[in-house]
Amino acid sequence: MTPIDGSQLDLADLAARSLDELGITDAAALEAVFTRLDAGLASEVGALQDSAGTADAIEALRVRWLGRKQGIIRSITDGWLKNAPGELKRIIGQRTNALRQMAEEQIAGVAKQLQLGAIAEENSQGRQMPLPQSDWAATQNSAAQQQLSYVPSPFLDITLPGTHRPAGVRHPLRQVINDMVEIFTSLGYSVEDGPEIESTYFNFEALNIPEHHPSRDDQDTFYITPETVLRTHTSPVQIRTMEKQSPPLRIIVPGRVYRRDAPDATHSPMFHQVEGLAVDTHITFADLKGTLDYFLKSFFGLSVQTRFRPSFFPFTEPSAEVDISCLFCAQAGCRVCKGSGWIELLGCGMVDPALFNFVQYDASQYSGFAFGMGVERLAMLKYGVQDIQQFYHGDIRFLHQFR
Ligand code: PHE
Repeated sequence: MTPIDGSQLDLADLAARSLDELGITDAAALEAVFTRLDAGLASEVGALQDSAGTADAIEALRVRWLGRKQGIIRSITDGWLKNAPGELKRIIGQRTNALRQMAEEQIAGVAKQLQLGAIAEENSQGRQMPLPQSDWAATQNSAAQQQLSYVPSPFLDITLPGTHRPAGVRHPLRQVINDMVEIFTSLGYSVEDGPEIESTYFNFEALNIPEHHPSRDDQDTFYITPETVLRTHTSPVQIRTMEKQSPPLRIIVPGRVYRRDAPDATHSPMFHQVEGLAVDTHITFADLKGTLDYFLKSFFGLSVQTRFRPSFFPFTEPSAEVDISCLFCAQAGCRVCKGSGWIELLGCGMVDPALFNFVQYDASQYSGFAFGMGVERLAMLKYGVQDIQQFYHGDIRFLHQFR
């Protein structure tokens, strides 16, 4: 029998003929015919992609290659594979499997392309259709599929420059607060907060600041109503916490506070404080000194020295002002320390027993200390910031220095 010239046949016809008819008797001839099938599949899929084929055309291609009755692959497995001699069977099996997989992936790829095109069309007409789920994952299945099914849709112009998202930084005040929280939590303190809009009871009365005290003056306080203020310090949270919890107690309270001050290089009507409060049996002034000395050395560096000066606050007795040795001149005297070698930093003292009466703590059993410090002040000293207003301007050039 003279073999048929397979090269003239359509691929479906080719697959329908027997190997005998085609005169294929060895591995080399088999390889050649499968190479032709591979190329045929690729070019048919490619043609469909270029013509942005319809769903019908895609289905026709699928039936032609993968159809269960007369698909090319079915013809090969039914005809060639079954009747081939042993040594050719293995080649036919392997090549047919590869061909089937390629056909499945590539035809699914064109179908996906059609679907995406339809969505783009819908969207361009003002209707929003969701992208099919796991569209990206579907294109990741194999390199071959990626190549053939990856078609730029109107969604994605890969020639456009990417979206640049500059990395942000934590605001220096937040960094300082975080540092402080870390140091104090390592000492067993927990973090509390309270409202910025506060009653005069918590902001003043319960802190032993009677009505005629100068700090209640309109000059210093933003009044909302005669009984409501923007808190002028974080100390009201001392009272709020003691009302809620019984001793022992160790808390710090970072937060915003407000005062009627005209803004300048060292003043702002809004700034931040961190309050501290420890109440327990047998708490002494030595604990207060040790705690603040430890904190300031951890925060500014071990070489910093601390100094406690007598002072007055209505809610602590005795009270003290804490200074640190000047960070800028090694105590030789400079502009920052105004020649004194010391920088005034914070207020503190032993909790005035009068406060315990407000919160029903037994003043004969418990004692405590409290302190309050300005976050901006610490930040300005630590980073050498000259103007407090810089913290509030949101100038990227300023903020990026704190990376
Ligand atoms: N609340 C005081 C202030 O704002 C600081 C302070 C807190 C002093 C706690 C002593 C104890 O100035």
